[in-house]
Amino acid sequence: MQDKILVVDDDPGIRSTLAELLEGLGYEAPTASDGLEAVGLLDSGPYLCVLTDIMMPNMTGLELIKKIKAHDVSMPVIVITGYASLEIAIDAMKSGASDFLSKPFKIKQIELILNKVKREKQILEENKRFADELQLHRLIDNLVGQIEDKSQEITSLQAISERITNLKGIRDLVAAVEDVTSELLDDSEVCFYPLNRKTEKLINPNGGKELDLEDGMINGNVISRINPDSSGIHAYDITFPFMIEGQLFGALKVLSHRIFEDSENDKIAYLLQRTAERMENIALYEGLYENILSTLKSMAMILDARDPHTSQHSTRVTSLSTTLGKHLDLTEDDMDILYIAASLHDIGKVGIPDSILLKTGKLTNEEFDVIKKHPDLGADIIKPITPMLNETYIIRHHHERYDGKGYPAGLIGEEIPLLSRIIALADAFDAMTSDRPYRKGLSFDKAFQEILRCKGTQFDPDITDVFLEHISEM
Ligand SMILES: [Fe+2]
Repeated sequence: MQDKILVVDDDPGIRSTLAELLEGLGYEAPTASDGLEAVGLLDSGPYLCVLTDIMMPNMTGLELIKKIKAHDVSMPVIVITGYASLEIAIDAMKSGASDFLSKPFKIKQIELILNKVKREKQILEENKRFADELQLHRLIDNLVGQIEDKSQEITSLQAISERITNLKGIRDLVAAVEDVTSELLDDSEVCFYPLNRKTEKLINPNGGKELDLEDGMINGNVISRINPDSSGIHAYDITFPFMIEGQLFGALKVLSHRIFEDSENDKIAYLLQRTAERMENIALYEGLYENILSTLKSMAMILDARDPHTSQHSTRVTSLSTTLGKHLDLTEDDMDILYIAASLHDIGKVGIPDSILLKTGKLTNEEFDVIKKHPDLGADIIKPITPMLNETYIIRHHHERYDGKGYPAGLIGEEIPLLSRIIALADAFDAMTSDRPYRKGLSFDKAFQEILRCKGTQFDPDITDVFLEHISEM
């Protein structure tokens, strides 16, 4: 069955061009001339996604996005733009748009966007299937409690699943596969050999000679044979191919003193299948995440470029913050969050008008109140991106003061997230030492004195000490 894509634009020329291009790519492409007509067509789906213009009579594209999300929150909406307007882009992102298609249309761009939509949909379905399966496992566990063997088997499959579910890196997954297999097949030697795509041979991770593929391996068949190098302990050499989406990616080689039972082979097959699914998800997820992150980073660069006097501010604050983070012995996860939150800490300033943001004279109280909204604005921009929940929180509180006189929440002391306290100090130091049109930046010595003066009032005293001790390296 062909996938359907709903095209919404008030310009009949654009509508028909886009519909023709999509039909050429093998999609069915019904059209609507405005938001109202599009809402009427939503029930005649399912649609792969909706492509919509923004400026339209009767109902604008932004209002349409809200209606679509109320109808089906997972429905991807791609916004058609004449040229990339930052305000429109932000509004559309906040309303839930997943991407932008710019005019004039290029077939390659359309293909890329639709491939991305399909991948995202696949991830959603995969995650749903995963959740359903997990629920099923729990149900079965209760029902067959009295059948000892079955219950044990399920428990051990669940245990296998749990061992790999939360791992994020490919290397950790491979290590877990080796560990779990050794535990399941006691007294066996286990090693994972990745496939060298060029030579079509298996790479020996211990540095030895690459191994030839054996017949049937490419189709996923388990190969068992007598170990030619055996001195008696490990008489058998068994190879479990590791496949992702039907393609060979490597093999798990097991040396053992015995032939395995069917139930043991099934467990290894289950472990490898789960690992393959997990690796696929990680790859897709990392791709999407990188994509979102690079869009946000370009927004931060546009922001820095908007005010020539603060150019590179985000970059310097990021570098100062991460150096501080290292000396504060943050975990690797916290360092990653700090890097992203510091890069994007002022992203909310995209919502502050030029007349206030770029004003060279003193700001009025009303104008300062507008500036003070940027931490909340920034957090609201990042909030829809679920994997960035931590960063949202850090960005929202980067202007709190240790004595509780900061904004937006007036948090006091350790109520303020640690990473926000780090960024607050780095941000203030960079602001003090940078030149502005109406004043010259402070010398480093003066700035240190100022930071020291504000220790315990504006800044966290411990972070201040670490900063002053290590400033020469920053
Ligand atoms: Fe800020």
